[in-house]
Amino acid sequence: MTRQIIIDTDPGQDDAVAILLALASPELTVLGITCVAGNVPLALTSRNARMICELAGRPDMRVFAGCDRPLGRDLVTAEHVHGQSGLDGPVLPDPVMPLQAQHAVDFIIDTLRSQPAGSVTLCPLGPLTNIAMALEKAPDIIPRIREIVLMGGAYFEVGNITPTAEFNIYVDPQAARIVFRAGVPLVVVPLDVTHKVLVTKERNDAFRALGTRVGEAVAQMTEFFERFDLAKYGSPGAPLHDPCVTAYLLRPDLFTGRHINVEIEVQSELTMGMTVADWWRVTSRVPNALFLRDVDADGLFALFTERLGRL
Ligand code: RIB
Ligand code: CA
Repeated sequence: MTRQIIIDTDPGQDDAVAILLALASPELTVLGITCVAGNVPLALTSRNARMICELAGRPDMRVFAGCDRPLGRDLVTAEHVHGQSGLDGPVLPDPVMPLQAQHAVDFIIDTLRSQPAGSVTLCPLGPLTNIAMALEKAPDIIPRIREIVLMGGAYFEVGNITPTAEFNIYVDPQAARIVFRAGVPLVVVPLDVTHKVLVTKERNDAFRALGTRVGEAVAQMTEFFERFDLAKYGSPGAPLHDPCVTAYLLRPDLFTGRHINVEIEVQSELTMGMTVADWWRVTSRVPNALFLRDVDADGLFALFTERLGRL
């Protein structure tokens, strides 16, 4: 039995690699890809998602457009990281496959209502607007969700968009608070993990050495995407944030973390969007998330390269 997932995404080069990995992995059945405003506006994230599906040879995949702005704040985008298109790097053809007519939030609700309870995993890779809207609009789906495995947040690593907040959470902190308080089993892949998953030159050469369209496109994506982190952190390569979500679904043994309480700052502008992780369990707040901290990066890249080679 494959694992049924919905990928919610704001592509984004790293989202692209996460989607490619999922489409290359027979253990996973992608029921649909729902797009949200984040790295770039919704019109571009929903365009990029289709380009990625076509790159993977999957023009049959259902792609849905969702929310075009956060719940209670103006949209903040990240062209400085991902480029104007959100997918700068490779030159990919305009998408031919259609966008589904149904709103992403309604697709998430309908899918969770129609699939067996506990069979669908939600995999948010961007701001949590679509997920929060689905939970608010249809609370009956909450007990039907198997798990939410998301890329977002930071604790020991602190912020990447502000001194205290990671981008996905920062863009829509109200949505994040709804998701983190919903009582759904939650796995959080924070910067603490993803900043240890760096595409060094050797690792990028391995992507390129696949000698495929996908391998070349991924190599070009990460070569573009790494500029921001190299300049800011001096790191030896781009952190592959979102692919860690797909990798966790495939090989959870490559990760370690703790089941702790994580709350979201939604009031102070100084720390807006901070994931306040009670790693040392100094509060009486009830644990609500498996918060990951460590990863076998070499094992991850072996998995990435092997799977991308299948496309
Ligand atoms: O902070 C990293 C996250 O923000 C990643 O998901 C990246 O794609 C952006 O959405
Ligand atoms: Ca993303």
